[in-house]
Amino acid sequence: MSWTKHFKERTVTAEEAVRVIKSGDRVWVHPGCATPEPLIKALVARKDELENVEIAHILTFGEAPYVAPEMQGHFKHRAFFTGANVRDAVNDGRAEFVPIFLSEIPRLFYSGEYKIDVALITVSPPDEYGFCSFGVGVECTKAAAETARIVIAEVNTNMPRALGDSFIHVSKIHYFVESDRPLFELPKEEITDLHRKIAGYIADLIEDGSTLQMGIGGIPDAVLLFMRDKKDLGIHTEMFSDGLLPLIEAGVVNNEKKTLHRGKVIASFVLGTKKLFEFIDNNPLFEFHPSDYVNDPFIIAQNEKMVAINSALQIDLTGQVCSDSIGHRIYSGIGGQVDFIRGAARSKGGKPIIALPSTAKNGTISRIVPVLTEGAGVVTSRGDVHYVVTEYGVAYLHGKSIRERAKALIEIAHPDFRDWLKFEAKKRCYL
Ligand code: COA
Repeated sequence: MSWTKHFKERTVTAEEAVRVIKSGDRVWVHPGCATPEPLIKALVARKDELENVEIAHILTFGEAPYVAPEMQGHFKHRAFFTGANVRDAVNDGRAEFVPIFLSEIPRLFYSGEYKIDVALITVSPPDEYGFCSFGVGVECTKAAAETARIVIAEVNTNMPRALGDSFIHVSKIHYFVESDRPLFELPKEEITDLHRKIAGYIADLIEDGSTLQMGIGGIPDAVLLFMRDKKDLGIHTEMFSDGLLPLIEAGVVNNEKKTLHRGKVIASFVLGTKKLFEFIDNNPLFEFHPSDYVNDPFIIAQNEKMVAINSALQIDLTGQVCSDSIGHRIYSGIGGQVDFIRGAARSKGGKPIIALPSTAKNGTISRIVPVLTEGAGVVTSRGDVHYVVTEYGVAYLHGKSIRERAKALIEIAHPDFRDWLKFEAKKRCYL
């Protein structure tokens, strides 16, 4: 059967498409700006007919109606990364959280360790050969779609045709739901003076010709502001946002010195605005690949001068970095932090950087602490940590003793907390 015939015959409404989902099924939801809202709404509307449908994803946008208390028994949720829309459910015990490296999620699907019944995805309209692009996000969704029993796709005219290992053929999709709704957008982060101060120190660490990975948040966006005088930067990152565009337009990011994929920006998803989506559309500058490739530390390490910039919630005086929880309360997830910290550590001339403000809660608590809060999750271990940056400077911890680490971290702590940290460090014979 020609793919056009298949496409026509299988184009249905969202309500019709989700009728194939049965009680007990596991459903993967395309995350980020690709979150297929009409499919989710149609599925949740079937609540009374369904029992124990498990909905799994990383960070999604919009509502997550399936985690509401009244959905118990009908839907359950498995968070491979906890976003704001499911955070309360995870912490109230109504949803499950899976601590896992982003690079390893696709393998869970391919190995059958986590079997997916239905993948709900958002793709671009098919090209002349019948291929749809995963657009703003390939991440773990390509693996989910390749292993799911049934694939339901929202075919959205606003989804860019992003290039790379980022396509699915129409023949592999079971139902199509046409749509022209705007995709979810992540507005530009507000960049504060504090972010700028931290970013200034990070910028001093970045040499011309480096390849960069930036995590999510105000600090990475601020770092990009300080890159205008650099030369020949490259990008190999799990995600990027609008902040990268001016550097590409100015020729600062040209990817020419990259030692892997020279000339290309390598990523697995974008979080940004319509302007960014339009910029990546059909643009051969960008290659999107799944997380098991982009985030593989051995792939990352093949980029010489690889600089990984990630953020954290708390760090203890020995260098253990908590990034996914505030005490017992799960805040986000492991994501790609360790993948990139390790990849950059193995790269020739690479620099793994953890950047965080020295305090939280309007300066009332120090993020540099003698011991992590009970329940805090160590994401980057003290064996993996290298550079730590706050608004007070840079501490280099790799190869240093506990005593040297404590001293270096106290020097970049907020001055209001330094005496307390010294006292607590002495109590533990760190100093
Ligand atoms: N104790 C108590 N509360 C704290 C805290 C601490 N030590 N540190 C931060 N907080 C609070 C902040 O006050 C803020 O609260 P608010 O939302 O009420 O303002 C909230 O926690 C978030 O902190 P913030 O520093 O603003 O977070 P961020 O948006 O800059 O993100 C991470 C930082 C670490 C949460 C984020 O980078 C992340 O999720 N990382 C995990 C994985 C990763 O790095 N992956 C790679 C990139 S995707």
